[in-house]
Amino acid sequence: MRKNPTNSRASNTVFTGPHTLPLDVDGPHIDKSASAPDRLYQALRHAITSGMVKPSEALPPSRHLAEQSGFRRNAVTEAYERLIADGFAVARIGSGTFVAERIPSAIAVKAPKRIVIAEPQRGTLALGCTDIDETALRRFRAFLGRRMRAFSSEHLHYGDPRGSFELRVAIANHLLSARGLRCDPDQIMLTSGTQHGLRIVLSAILKPGEQVWVEDPGYPAAQKSIAHYGGQPVSVPVDDHGMIVAMGRAAAPRARAAYVTPSHQFPLGVQMTMPRRLELLDWAHEADAFVFEDDYDSEFRYDGAPLLSLAGIDHLRRVVYMGTFAKTLFPGLRIGYCALPESLIGPVAAARAAMDRFPATLMEGAIADMLNSGAFAANLRRMRGCYRDARDALAHTLTQASDGQLTVPIPSQGLHLVAKFATATPLQIAADAQISAGAEGWLLADTYLRARPAAGFVLGFSGHPIHKLVAAAETLAKASTDQLRLYRNAKTSRALEPSPRDRN
Ligand SMILES: Cc1ncc(COP(=O)(O)O)c(C=O)c1O
Repeated sequence: MRKNPTNSRASNTVFTGPHTLPLDVDGPHIDKSASAPDRLYQALRHAITSGMVKPSEALPPSRHLAEQSGFRRNAVTEAYERLIADGFAVARIGSGTFVAERIPSAIAVKAPKRIVIAEPQRGTLALGCTDIDETALRRFRAFLGRRMRAFSSEHLHYGDPRGSFELRVAIANHLLSARGLRCDPDQIMLTSGTQHGLRIVLSAILKPGEQVWVEDPGYPAAQKSIAHYGGQPVSVPVDDHGMIVAMGRAAAPRARAAYVTPSHQFPLGVQMTMPRRLELLDWAHEADAFVFEDDYDSEFRYDGAPLLSLAGIDHLRRVVYMGTFAKTLFPGLRIGYCALPESLIGPVAAARAAMDRFPATLMEGAIADMLNSGAFAANLRRMRGCYRDARDALAHTLTQASDGQLTVPIPSQGLHLVAKFATATPLQIAADAQISAGAEGWLLADTYLRARPAAGFVLGFSGHPIHKLVAAAETLAKASTDQLRLYRNAKTSRALEPSPRDRN
């Protein structure tokens, strides 16, 4: 007769396996109607097949497992016997019960279901790609190395929800010189990017059901963030002067906030005029509302100086200013910042502490070094030249290769452009052209909320070599003219078809 695998230790053996086993006796792998020994068997088998206990590892002595799991010792013994009978465990006389060296494959862990996460676009024409100058990268590495070597106890603790004071001072100086925005470092909060900043502030100020004006067309990520907090994005159309404030007032006069990209409207590229800026600020003061100013790309201005920021005009009373290093350095940094009205410092810091406590500290010193040493400004100067050339090459190729069927206004700022078909062109033509060209970038129509969408593309020119931009633009322009021709031919043949009366 086989020796009973009790795992009761022989007095002279030392048990070296786990004394406690984190058994899941309630999970989906358990048949709840089964007997106690069966349920314990299923839990143990799951622990073995999921790798929680490894091949050849000792199982706990039956007495320990009974104490730990609340099952009777008989149930444990019975479960161990079944494991042995099914080949999941082996009994070693005098030593106890061990997981088998080889686990039966038929019931071994099923490969986890592959969950596909949409990868961000990175190909030519994709938005949000950037380059960094070699010298700037070398300096960043050097700063980072130096900071890591000086790593000290200050990095070991929980920190200020707004992030490192040193970097906040450097950002406040940068905002003053680059954007004419005067603010105290106490008003700055570091974030992991614009979207993160928007979400933290929204979580502090927005109640479910409250309205927030958004530009239409606009930045879909902002609309999603507002909806995430139970807010109601209110579409406010954009014209050549920026968001049409009068339409916002008519649609939602008591909205809690407005989200705008005044320096370079996303995606159309319009610069909000000064009268509109003043109109927007007047409304915010009257309605006790806040304005989110997303200043995502104003460091890349190609002609003339940018207008004063909204926050600068308002002296940060109703405006939350949001900036990011995703474009000026690189998106992988995940560092952005907000400049907050004084009245929001307390509530927003509390919201931040409740969300993810405070920003990671290890990179902050090196970024402050980039700003303070001039390496950041030098990188911007060089990249501005590269991006201007890329912008011109892309716009020129799209216009030429489409025989003027695509209209491509040249943006005076930023890292993307819009290429539009003639008014009333069906949206499907742009969608079909994008697919047939295998092109990255966005469809312009996807940035509209309620306003009448226009057919066209939103295309990124930064972070892509010019020869690739030119090749991709030629392919997309050709696909666009092909789709237009197909559409016009189909329309003509429908018009030439005999009407039912002619046929009779
Ligand atoms: C309108 C707009 N705002 C902000 C950003 C930057 O976002 P983040 O800092 O979250 O990477 C982008 C990025 O493409 C953008 O298009």
